[in-house]
Amino acid sequence: MASTVWFGVTTIGLWLFGIYILLFYGKATLQGDFTSWNDVLPHGYVTGDWLGNLVVGIHVLLASILVIGGPLQFIPSVRRYAPRFHRWLGRLYIITAIIVSTAGLIMVWTRGAVGDTIQHISISILAIYCIIFAVLSFLYAKARQFDKHKSWALRLFMVVNGVWLFRVELMCWLLIHGGPVGFNPKTFSGPFLTALTLFTYAIPISLGLLELYFYAHRKQRKALSLSVSALIFLATVIQLVGIAGATIGMWLPRLAKL
Ligand code: HEM
Repeated sequence: MASTVWFGVTTIGLWLFGIYILLFYGKATLQGDFTSWNDVLPHGYVTGDWLGNLVVGIHVLLASILVIGGPLQFIPSVRRYAPRFHRWLGRLYIITAIIVSTAGLIMVWTRGAVGDTIQHISISILAIYCIIFAVLSFLYAKARQFDKHKSWALRLFMVVNGVWLFRVELMCWLLIHGGPVGFNPKTFSGPFLTALTLFTYAIPISLGLLELYFYAHRKQRKALSLSVSALIFLATVIQLVGIAGATIGMWLPRLAKL
């Protein structure tokens, strides 16, 4: 029950992020109004650098496939009643995860990004996880080892969602404290953000929780299952608060400016 509720809340949060991506970046791109990317991204559109702009465009627009398509892959009825759709979306998801992660690496190390070097290294490690897990998930599906395929696909889902989770956790923190605490909002660095990037990107706690969930499933011990369920429940509450904060405080105001 804990994992089902977690999945429902995660799906809603990812789809809200996906709607924001499509409406904000999709609309601006279709209208050829690339400079409005810079309302959000300090290194978004640079006049004359068509290749760099293309990489940013590919990154943000293809990201919508990941955040909207990801949850669909784990809905049992979709897999049961539409196996072909599952296979095609799976291939698309895996290719997109590799392209978006590679584009992200190019953006961080050629154009720069908000935050400090620890943050840049941490998100780069996340990109490497995404690429490795995508390849493993594909190879196990090809080899028809579906148990292993599912485990690696879930790990991929967790790391790909890391960038969404970062925003949600940050907004939860801001809501709890009523403003920025533990970091400087101007430089976007400080102890809280260092910890958040380390444990969301480089050593993802979400991945640790997934491994605990796998372990509890294997062991089938009541006390262990209850403890892991309680941790998943706590993660769900944090996400719920953060999703509300990100939607009301970040995504809706940006869409309202369009
Ligand atoms: C794999 C899943 C990923 C998704 C779904 C994703 C999605 C996005 C989205 C939607 C934005 C626009 C930000 C906004 O409007 O709030 C963005 C920006 C950005 N992303 Fe990603 N991203 C992913 C992975 C990565 C990775 C792995 C890296 C780096 C290695 C990266 C680097 C960046 C950078 C540098 C920006 C520009 C923000 C800035 O200037 O700091 N992304 N991403």
